[in-house]
This record gives sequence, structure tokens and C-alpha cells, in this order.
Amino acid sequence: MIIPKNILGTKGLSKEEIVTILDSAEAFKEISTREIKKVPTLRGRTIINLFFEPSTRTRTSFEIAGKRLSADVINISGSTSSTVKGENLIDMALNLEAMNPDLMIIRHSHSGVAEMLSKFIKCPIINAGDGHHEHPTQALLDLYTIREAIGDLHGLNVTIVGDITHSRVVRSNIYAMKTMGINVTLVGPPTMIPLGIENMGVHVSYSLEDAVLDADVIMMLRLQTERQNEFLLPSIREYSNLFCLTTKILKRSKDDVLIIHPGPVNRGIEITLDVMKSDKSFILNQVTNGVAIRMALMYLLLGGNNDSLN
Ligand code: CP
Repeated sequence: MIIPKNILGTKGLSKEEIVTILDSAEAFKEISTREIKKVPTLRGRTIINLFFEPSTRTRTSFEIAGKRLSADVINISGSTSSTVKGENLIDMALNLEAMNPDLMIIRHSHSGVAEMLSKFIKCPIINAGDGHHEHPTQALLDLYTIREAIGDLHGLNVTIVGDITHSRVVRSNIYAMKTMGINVTLVGPPTMIPLGIENMGVHVSYSLEDAVLDADVIMMLRLQTERQNEFLLPSIREYSNLFCLTTKILKRSKDDVLIIHPGPVNRGIEITLDVMKSDKSFILNQVTNGVAIRMALMYLLLGGNNDSLN
């Protein structure tokens, strides 16, 4: 199975392509448990990690993934690039491409940047999060974590809670989850759920208490506290009263419910510390699995050789 040349989003990825990526990640996860966490699969290949927005998990995960595959990984952040001197993004990408990289990974606060650059440069691009649009590797690692913990994805009920409107993680997860036959329910205040989102084949609820009842998985989202000046909420305390995942709310859900969160977490705002630390929480498993998913994508996009995994 050949996957698309660029991973710009999960929209348009077929079920077979998603399964290929998840299955490949299983082989790569084992490498990270070895004492020597390195295979020669991408030796001599060059990967540019271009981040124009803060990131802890995604940036480090891509860097570790590339290095564990023996690629040369170059990290560039927006603040240290010549864009601060006025160079535009397309010129910057063309100049980087002139140095013959094999893969570019890009995070940007503006929606559509990864897709735009893909029209100008020849090497593959992975979107590491663009504005409110998509964050495909996050959705893929979420699916991997759910499949690893529960098994078959088809028919599962996933409840996603928080600021749906501004979340690229939600958008990528809806596309991927619907493709995999998952039932998705979105929960949040009405000001944070776009009108008509049901047209994407999802359910909408404004009550966390109701929406956890049938959930096999509850995905909590970071409250983007930097949006407080957009007056979407009466106050952060009011939001927490209604939408924070607490032990009390969790008692209404299935005994074996799985809790995930893409991070970064606002402790005590969208999820309490005791829930984060409970045995239902797979938040750190998601981070571990992110490395395997990104190794798999690099391998699949750059045509790695299976023999080199040993
Ligand atoms: N999940 C995620 O994208 O986290 P970072 O912003 O730390 O990369």
C-alpha cells in the first residue's frame, strides 16, 4: 500500500491507508524500547523540522523519530529563520529545498500553509499542525493509542470535549474516525461548537454528564485560555464547572473508558489531576505512540527498507 506523497491532513486518507500507517507504527514502536534505539533505515536522508509555533510534543517527537531512523534532522524555528527579516514563506521553502532535503515537516499558526508550500516544493511535506485546520499526526497517534488499548476501532463511541471550533486536532480526528467507522460525539459550550458540524456525520451534545454515559473513549481538549478576550465564555471557572472531567463525572461512564488528551493540559481546567493520573488515562501513552507513528510516516514517505529495522 502506497500512502499519499504528502500528509497534509487526514481528510481524504482511505481506511486502507490509515491501517497501513497504524500497522507500520507497531513495528517501529518496538525500536524505542531497545537499549540502542536506532536503526539505519533512513541513513543519509535529510529531514527539515520547520516550526513557526510553540510545540513540546510534536516537534520533539518528529526529531526523535527521524534520529531513531538515522536521518539527519535539522530543526528550524520561525523566530530564528530569515522570515523575521522579511523573507516570505515560499522563498524560504524554496531556499531550503535547494539544499536537497528528503522531507519537510511544518507547523504554522495559519491554516493552509503546509498545503500551499506543497504546491511549490518537490519533496514530501508532513503537516505538523496548521492553524485551526488539521493536525494529522495527532489524529493518527490517537487512533493508534485507542486501537492498542481497545482493539477494533469500528463501532466505538468517542466523545470529544472542549473548544471544537478552534481545534485542528478535532477536525483531523473527525475525518479519520469517521473513515474508521467510529461514532463521534462533540461536547462543549454552544459558542465553541460550529453550527452545522453535524453535517460531518457527528453528534453534538452540550452536556458532559450525558455524553460520557456511552463513551468508550473520552478525548478532552485544551481550553485555549488565550481566547478569553474573544468572550466565548462567561469565565474559565464557569467552563470548568460544566466541562471539566472530574472523578465525579467519570463515575457515570463505563468502567473501562479510555481517557486521552492531545496536550498541553491545563490541570484543573479541562481535566483534574486525579483523573489525569488514573489508570483510565492514556495521555502519556499517546506521547510514546506519537514517536512510532511519525517513524512509520517517515519510513512510508521515504521508501525505507524493511531489512534495515533489525
Ligand atoms: N499535541 C500537540 O500538538 O502538542 P504540542 O503543541 O506540544 O506539539
